[in-house]
Amino acid sequence: MTAMPPLHRLKVHEDARGKLVAIEGPGDIPFAIGRVYYIVAGDGSSRGFHAHRTLQQVMMCVHGSCRVVLDDGRARSEYSLDRPDEALAVGPMTWREMHDFSPGAVLLVLASDRFDEDDYIRDYDVFVREATGGAA
Ligand code: TYD
Repeated sequence: MTAMPPLHRLKVHEDARGKLVAIEGPGDIPFAIGRVYYIVAGDGSSRGFHAHRTLQQVMMCVHGSCRVVLDDGRARSEYSLDRPDEALAVGPMTWREMHDFSPGAVLLVLASDRFDEDDYIRDYDVFVREATGGAA
């Protein structure tokens, strides 16, 4: 990941018709896009609870809101995503949890690669061990 701050604002083209937000790479995001997916909130249940060994992602709540917890194995940060022009960068070896989805919220995710289950770490203790080099 580059030195891009985790949370940054995208340019909005807004007029009476509404808002248009464009994302161009490279520049707006720090990797070539290999996959796009989106989550549409259901019953508001939390999601995520995993890290990726190599995958880079940028997420935006393009409709509604949610709260994202990022954890590098030593410290946790929380972000409220509640505007369509706010992009949260999530680097490799970052445990993520998404909570408090508002009804019908849509979380759009840009990812650096295709879906690969082998890149996932789904056990928090394993993640902390790998992220801290076994120090934790
Ligand atoms: P899951 O990992 O449970 O989502 P979350 O991290 O938001 O809790 O993914 C749900 C299902 O979707 C699971 O069967 C894997 C599948 N999936 C894909 O097929 N492609 C993808 O790009 C993603 C992210 C998930």
